[in-house]
Amino acid sequence: MNKVIKQLLNRRSVRAFDTKDINKEDLSLIKQSILRAPTAGNMCFYSVIIVNDQYKKDELSLLCDNQPMIAKAPLVMVFLADMQKHMDYFKYSNCEEKSKIPNRLPGLGDFHLAMQDAIVAAQSAVVAADSLNIGSCYIGDIVENFERVQSLLALPNHAVPAAMLIMGYKKDNKEKKLLDRCDIDALFMEDSYKSKSKEELDVEWSKPLEHLKKTNRVPYEDATMADCFYTKKYTSTFMEEMNRSTSVFINKWLDK
Ligand SMILES: Cc1cc2nc3c(=O)[nH]c(=O)nc-3n(C[C@H](O)[C@H](O)[C@H](O)COP(=O)(O)O)c2cc1C
Repeated sequence: MNKVIKQLLNRRSVRAFDTKDINKEDLSLIKQSILRAPTAGNMCFYSVIIVNDQYKKDELSLLCDNQPMIAKAPLVMVFLADMQKHMDYFKYSNCEEKSKIPNRLPGLGDFHLAMQDAIVAAQSAVVAADSLNIGSCYIGDIVENFERVQSLLALPNHAVPAAMLIMGYKKDNKEKKLLDRCDIDALFMEDSYKSKSKEELDVEWSKPLEHLKKTNRVPYEDATMADCFYTKKYTSTFMEEMNRSTSVFINKWLDK
């Protein structure tokens, strides 16, 4: 097995870090890996805010569903789906007048493409960091409380959170146990979408369910994995807030 595959197959999220700062050389390698990520039309529809200010880290840790490890992380990166810089550049360059093509507002397609760009770039940061013994964890809750995140990070309406990463050197080099996933075959389909029966889904999710049962983290004795997702995630207050907040920033993006 080559080194890259070995690294990919052994990555896991890290939430507790060594307190030392990321050194300049490693940070530069992570930034260069982000820059070299694929990007739609080579347009770089994303920007990354590196949050150094401790007050802002503290605020983010509260705004992202109270996760104290954010405040303690040596490196906090917010990946933005960013078309604001292009809209500004179009204006500075008088594109509309010169081309005689009417300008338009960014739409949902632009939004989706910019999100793809930002998230693809974030994953390059994860892989690069891991190769440097720097652990990382995504913080999905960055899409909550948009109004307060927008003001904290001074975001214009066309630069919105796509992903957030916290990073830091791993505390030790010990290989940690990986979390079980669904069966590998459950992820792949051939040529068209295939809906599944309850029995198929139960089998596909049996390993992670077994783990939750062993650690007493199931809502009822006869719970399926669906019951776990439904009660702990899908109907949670954080999901309700994510849905509210995301619709606020999509509406602002669409100028509604
Ligand atoms: C989009 C996304 C959002 C996530 N948000 C959080 C989060 O807010 N807090 C957290 O502790 N982990 C978060 N994670 C990490 C997942 O919990 C983790 O990837 C998952 O449990 C599998 O574990 P592993 O990465 O160690 O394999 C997130 C991961 C992704 C991809």
